[in-house]
Amino acid sequence: MESNEVRKKFLKFFEKRGHKIIPSSSLVPENDPSVFFTTAGMQQFKPYYTGEKDAEEDFGTKNVVTVQKCVRTSDIEEVGDDTHLTFFEMLGSFSFGGYWKKEAIKYAHEFMTKELGLEIDFVSVFRDDESGIPADEESREIWKTIDPGLKIKEHKKEDNFWGPTGEEGPCGPTTEIYINGVEIWNIVFNEFYKTKEGEYKPLKTKGIDTGMGLERLLVQVQRKKNIYQTDLYNNEKNEKERIIADHVKASVFMISDGVTPSNTGRGYILRRLIRRAMVFSKNSLEDQINMVKKIYKGTYILEDRGEIAKEEEKFKQVIATGAAVVNKIVWDTLEELGKKLANIHQELGINFELSIELLQKKGIKFTEQEIIDIKKIFDENFKKHQDLSRVSSMGMFKGGLVNHNEKTIKHHTAHHLLLAGLQAVLGNGVKQRGSNITEERLRMDFLCGHKLTDDEKKKVEDWVNEKIKAGLDVTRRELPKHLAEKMGAEMEFGAKYPDTVSVYFIGPLNKEHDAVSKEFCGGPHVSNTKELGSFKILKEEAVSFGVRRIKAILR
Ligand code: SER
Repeated sequence: MESNEVRKKFLKFFEKRGHKIIPSSSLVPENDPSVFFTTAGMQQFKPYYTGEKDAEEDFGTKNVVTVQKCVRTSDIEEVGDDTHLTFFEMLGSFSFGGYWKKEAIKYAHEFMTKELGLEIDFVSVFRDDESGIPADEESREIWKTIDPGLKIKEHKKEDNFWGPTGEEGPCGPTTEIYINGVEIWNIVFNEFYKTKEGEYKPLKTKGIDTGMGLERLLVQVQRKKNIYQTDLYNNEKNEKERIIADHVKASVFMISDGVTPSNTGRGYILRRLIRRAMVFSKNSLEDQINMVKKIYKGTYILEDRGEIAKEEEKFKQVIATGAAVVNKIVWDTLEELGKKLANIHQELGINFELSIELLQKKGIKFTEQEIIDIKKIFDENFKKHQDLSRVSSMGMFKGGLVNHNEKTIKHHTAHHLLLAGLQAVLGNGVKQRGSNITEERLRMDFLCGHKLTDDEKKKVEDWVNEKIKAGLDVTRRELPKHLAEKMGAEMEFGAKYPDTVSVYFIGPLNKEHDAVSKEFCGGPHVSNTKELGSFKILKEEAVSFGVRRIKAILR
């Protein structure tokens, strides 16, 4: 059974059972600035759980079904194994107050065993006595009735509780179906709304949200060993080929949904994917791009608009510069060489193998053992770099810096003051939801339920200008993550941080004084606020429900 048939079967199965077929939403979420990409099928339906929208009004039914394009970058280190992908499609069925556990489980069981003829290994149900959330006895009983012989395992909150996709939103316990030891279908019982403060409140419209990765399902349906052997891939054999295939596919889909490579936000993620594919590939990515288009022909309209080729050209130049540097390295010990190569990889993107090849071309001979020894030093040092670079790329996402010229850096520091000023005037509920900083202006999106009054804008402006005049020092510290959190430093929401993080403080910080601003950030910043001049808000407007945008400048 080919992928096309599986998609169709899934949609038809649920359509027959009262679900309306809804098209996949874009990979770029429309009204959800809390995430860069669509990571789950339920994302486009969030307002139907919270009660902001009414499914019957919009769809004529409380139940819908989709095949949703998704991108997840959190598992990028795992890509190349048998089951993890950056881009994947999610088969999902949803109910917004239409039906509940009994039907959801019955449908899933029927689709798996009867429609696809697969054998379920075991299922899991939620039980975590420490969480304060009651164990899901109901699901256990339903499974027992439907399939008395089935093995049922109890999993805790970290495995069997889903959501929210952002800092707040619908979430709930899950029951999950496993086949051949792999999690295949996640059935979420959305019954809570997790608030920003971490409280679980009953959800307005309790609902079902199920999600099943198409590629993983195909492995079972097509009786393959891994996702690359299914008809959505080209049977890539080794890890490198797999990473290239995954990254190019994700890039083509992102570009088709309007993303272009850049140094910030989702454009930055796209750039990293293309460059990472290039690092693993010896050839141009053109064949891979064409392969992706061929595989999805008739299913999705894909167009990379030459963006990947353009990015390849840019990165080639970066590599050429890097190669010149590699050719000039001198070293006394292998340890020194390993360290230098790690630096070069970090700063110029030339990976270990490429560096060694360049040196060998120059006529330098290494024994196999020597290469292993150098690689060991390289890995140790590269890991250190990576942790730091994660911090600074986090800073880059957060600061949204386009370039590092002087004016941009000033705007970046003013950006931190603006967030603190908004919190001082409007309360700590104001959270940053996106930003973009150029030499011309700074821009911040933030959570706030109302249009700012002229008086509020004036107060924020005055607050920031007061801090500028006060000539406060800006300092950076590396701190253990838990300590930074305890100090209440603002962090990028939804981001994963390493154990040691970089935090920028504005103003003195001691027992008597709290700093005026504390943010997880990789910089760069000015060293004293008096360098900033005068701060002016140009515009305040709505971006989407509950999210406002400010554009401001320094004069
Ligand atoms: N939202 C859940 C998931 O992404 C089920 O669709 O796994």
